Amino acid sequence: MHILLLGSGGREHALAWKIAASPLVTKLWCAPGNAGIAREAECVALDIADHAAVIGFCKQNAVALVVVGPETPLAAGIVDDLANAGIKAFGPSKEASQLEGSKGFTKALCTEFAIPTGAYGRFDNAADALAYVRKQGAPIVVKADGLAAGKGVVVAMTPAEAESAIAMMFDGAFGAAGAEVVIEEFLSGREVSFFALSDGDTAIALASAQDHKRVFDHDEGPNTGGMGAYSPTPFVTDEIHSQIMNRIILPTVAGMKARGTPFCGVLYAGVMLTAEGPKLFEYNVRFGDPECQVLMLRMMSDLVPAMLACCDGQLKHFDLRWFPEAALTVVMAAKGYPGDYAKGTRIKGLDDAANVEGAEIFHAGTVAMDGQILANGGRVLNVCATGKTVAEAQQRAYAAVDRIRWPEGFCRRDIGWQAVEREKQ
Ligand code: AMP
Ligand code: GLY
Repeated sequence: MHILLLGSGGREHALAWKIAASPLVTKLWCAPGNAGIAREAECVALDIADHAAVIGFCKQNAVALVVVGPETPLAAGIVDDLANAGIKAFGPSKEASQLEGSKGFTKALCTEFAIPTGAYGRFDNAADALAYVRKQGAPIVVKADGLAAGKGVVVAMTPAEAESAIAMMFDGAFGAAGAEVVIEEFLSGREVSFFALSDGDTAIALASAQDHKRVFDHDEGPNTGGMGAYSPTPFVTDEIHSQIMNRIILPTVAGMKARGTPFCGVLYAGVMLTAEGPKLFEYNVRFGDPECQVLMLRMMSDLVPAMLACCDGQLKHFDLRWFPEAALTVVMAAKGYPGDYAKGTRIKGLDDAANVEGAEIFHAGTVAMDGQILANGGRVLNVCATGKTVAEAQQRAYAAVDRIRWPEGFCRRDIGWQAVEREKQ
């Protein structure tokens, strides 16, 4: 079977690694890919925003399945365009991608299908938004409605912060993504990520995984795309797992189906475990990055038939097996990230690092030049390891990190700390 994977980050390297391991796959391409992905797949310089070019490539190369990594092509309707050209693609349609592409869409769905979430208001002008904040008080959360590269959410601890976030968004800080704003009740509790596969009709949960969004140790500094992740997380107990499935994931899948816009692909729920039970605060319509990296390391089953089952509406009775070992990934980023950073710095010691027991290194933003690996992004490497416990995976991942010689890079030193603390109890 010929497969084309779209994307160029660590998530896509992990997907490429897992897809390439499938006995069903005879050829794997990745567009555009990166230096690490090139070990698993043939990288092709396709512009993935050019759907006609992607379709042309698929037809020329008899691609039987396209796997879409990031949200931008999904929101742009690449799955619909491929389907119209008769090409199977793993990921939601443009309409179903609204679950990530519009916060207001998701809030309205929650209201319609009684899915637990925070109270909210949706506004297309600053005056009404400000009046709502004055009435509700703080803390309160201000969100740009559309895709804002992970930067469109402001958790305002004071009314003044909320007011300046509203002003910033209506001043066009996020362009069209901020033309509407959702203002949401502040939910307090522990935050967990929950992943499920859906074929539009049913859903099955993936293993639990947790990321670390803040850039510095002790969860300090600005939010990032994620500085590390681990799986499993001890905080999603069996009871919480079934509450999230029954109250949030399954009603969402049923609601999307009832509306005539079934969701197929990976549903990634951001959930707050509040005193009143789990509440949804956001959806993403793709694998988390770097959560995907630890999920792929723990997935025992072949991913390819699972993705095909999603595309073909055959997920019912499908079963996924997981290795019992824990997995953990440390993101190495270019100094300055998530702000400005330099590109083109040289990374050494990768082979040495990969020799640490249980270690696996995925590339998030690299290029190969003259036999050397150069940094080519903000998040650059995902140094992963498996172990009998999260603590062992953590110790191995940092042993691998310490073998990498890249003075222009940095990482958090405390990835997995909550789970490691819990394991000691
Ligand atoms: P996002 O950029 O959508 O991933 O959101 C960034 C972060 O904002 C999340 O990881 C949560 O920690 C926080 N957040 C979003 N919505 C809420 C909410 N309603 N209450 C409290 N925190 C929230
Ligand atoms: N790790 C967070 C995300 O993928 O959005």
